[in-house]
Amino acid sequence: MNVPTQSVNIDLGERSYRISIGEGLFTTLNACADVPSTDSALVVSNTTVAPLYIQELKSVLAGKGVHVHEAILPDGEAHKDWQTLNLIFDALLTHGCDRKTVLYALGGGVIGDMTGFAAACYMRGVPFVQVPTTLLAQVDSSVGGKTAINHPLGKNMIGAFYQPRLVICDLSTLDTLPDRELSAGLAEVIKYGPIADMAFFAWLEAHIDAVRARDRAALAHVVCRCCEIKAEVVAQDERESGLRAILNFGHTFGHAIETGLGYGAWLHGEGVAAGMVMAAELSQRLGMVDGEFVRRLRSLIERAGLPTQGPVLDGGDNAGRYLELMHVDKKAEAGEIRFVLIDGPGRAVVRSAPDALVRDVIDACCVA
Ligand code: NAD
Ligand code: GLY
Repeated sequence: MNVPTQSVNIDLGERSYRISIGEGLFTTLNACADVPSTDSALVVSNTTVAPLYIQELKSVLAGKGVHVHEAILPDGEAHKDWQTLNLIFDALLTHGCDRKTVLYALGGGVIGDMTGFAAACYMRGVPFVQVPTTLLAQVDSSVGGKTAINHPLGKNMIGAFYQPRLVICDLSTLDTLPDRELSAGLAEVIKYGPIADMAFFAWLEAHIDAVRARDRAALAHVVCRCCEIKAEVVAQDERESGLRAILNFGHTFGHAIETGLGYGAWLHGEGVAAGMVMAAELSQRLGMVDGEFVRRLRSLIERAGLPTQGPVLDGGDNAGRYLELMHVDKKAEAGEIRFVLIDGPGRAVVRSAPDALVRDVIDACCVA
């Protein structure tokens, strides 16, 4: 079955762009008026995704008369670092790429975040296009212009806000995504419910099995609705001076899990899933939501094939280790950790919480 191609616009004045969502979009690139015109392009991908899709993308670009180069990076969150980022600059310089060269990020969030950061830095900024091939990247990371690499002491700590010129979400690329990665993407999908749209949350409760079975129409709805919500938030607060932080629901705990275990041990979405349960529990203990909301969230996360409990990061003072890691968070202010909490289903706020309460939540939500 073919789903109709849909568009979501990100309204950011002169930095506005379109997200195109559909099937077989690589082959329709020729018809896209908003593909940045150029003589040369560098497609950045990794050792897993390139063998699957790079030839198709390269030949479409070559058909438009573009001279296409490639940079193939090692795969994985553990490689989202300076050393790997430098491979993109090596390729750009080796091939004599100039300010008009367009970077294409072909892959998941790791490739998207690194390519975007490279595009922001190379010659102080060159155009880039996101071609996300994971569910997580299609519903979240390819949209909104956050780019970054990790530091051993903190996740996504070095980066820039830099918007792509176009996002191409080809749903057919999700066919080859491993089940565990599809589930990881569902964590970022589920988050949009509690923070912004409980009707979408209810839709997910009714259709989660169809989504996990990769029903194309269900996936199209998911990607469109998530991009619409994200577009609305980003248009109001591009650089996260306030509202945009709600998109980090579950991430304060989740980033601590990723950093604490070592990048790549748990997938980003897995950390976010357990982190959302912890943040919801914290919200309940602060009297902001009832137990029924937490039960619904935990149940949907479980049905999505995701963890609802965090790992033990320290056999001695586990809660202390989480707290230590959570202090290295971009939302922290004056040494105080700030959490995205749910203030009634469908509404998120950013606030601090007493350490003792946070410790109770971590103790209740972690398993060895
Ligand atoms: P990922 O990029 O590591 O991709 C997951 C795995 O799937 C990788 O092994 C990849 O090679 C493979 N893969 C990708 N597409 C495939 C396909 N179509 N078929 C088969 N295999 C495929 O992980 P991710 O979950 O896409 O992204 C996580 C990253 O995104 C994290 O680094 C996170 O910090 C970042 N992120 C950024 C933002 C943002 O706003 N910039 C938002 C959320 C997450
Ligand atoms: N993924 C969080 C954000 O884009 O702000």
